[in-house]
Amino acid sequence: MFPENGKIWSNGKLIPWNDAKVHVMTHGLHYGSGIFEGIRVYDSPDGPMVFRLDDHLHRFYESAKVYQFHMPYSIETLKAATLEVVRENNFRNCYIRPVAFVGYGKLGVLPNRENIEVHIGSWEWGSYMGEEAITQGARVTITSWKKFHSQMFPVMAKATGQYLNSMLAVMDAKDRGFDEAVLLNEYGDIAEGSGENIFIVKNGKILTNPINASILAGITRDTILQVATDLGYPVEIGAMTVGQFMTSDEAFFTGTAAEVTPIREVDRREIGSNGHWPVTRHMQETYFRIVKGLEPRYRHWLTPVYK
Ligand SMILES: Cc1ncc(COP(=O)(O)O)c(C=O)c1O
Repeated sequence: MFPENGKIWSNGKLIPWNDAKVHVMTHGLHYGSGIFEGIRVYDSPDGPMVFRLDDHLHRFYESAKVYQFHMPYSIETLKAATLEVVRENNFRNCYIRPVAFVGYGKLGVLPNRENIEVHIGSWEWGSYMGEEAITQGARVTITSWKKFHSQMFPVMAKATGQYLNSMLAVMDAKDRGFDEAVLLNEYGDIAEGSGENIFIVKNGKILTNPINASILAGITRDTILQVATDLGYPVEIGAMTVGQFMTSDEAFFTGTAAEVTPIREVDRREIGSNGHWPVTRHMQETYFRIVKGLEPRYRHWLTPVYK
């Protein structure tokens, strides 16, 4: 998957990809005591641009705050480091992965919150579920694994250990021949995909669920909510039942990795009619125009890699 060349920003320095290593007794590896982000860069007529960089770094620091990580670098330093990694690797389109975790020193569940390592890797990553899912839609299943509730884990934090829940869900989906899993929350309503938020469209109205439905507050979700409103669609935030999802006219995933991916089927039941998803297509096309710098109105969401 990785070409294993280029550089990684590792605790303050750019180092060769293959030198970015950790000790096997690292706390983050044993207990999942880490936080991360996923960010994308898209090429634009004015050169490569990072999409919503400040918002991603803000969420990264909020995740750090929840887990009481003493971040050894300021948000400004990591912003500069992120841009430096992309420039150093000469990427025009790429995915960026900042990660911070409790480092090597001692084991035992109680972490040393002062011992935080920070790394930023980057690579060229195409469509998360494949080009076919972007054009033809994804086939999903409702998994029996439930999304954890906010009293079990802080759902707003993007923490590495929390992703074991997503991992079980997506393995279940793949093993049963689907592209992605949809997790229900503790109320039995729709929560989200293993790495995506979910929207449905019914009678021209766009609906997604609220933060207290046990979802990660996705930055792509926020983008779509703003853009759909700007485009004049009626938008509603409310609980989404399984019945609403199955009988929706259209449904789609949103996420930095998954971008805007239509959902074609849920548990082998077709969504909408025959790939006719006009609202999803409109949102998907608009999203790609925004990230590629073709919509001046949303230029404030783009940070140029080269000043
Ligand atoms: C569980 C989960 N939900 C939703 C999302 C979408 O978030 P964003 O749009 O900020 O990438 C992600 C991806 O980061 C995720 O891992």
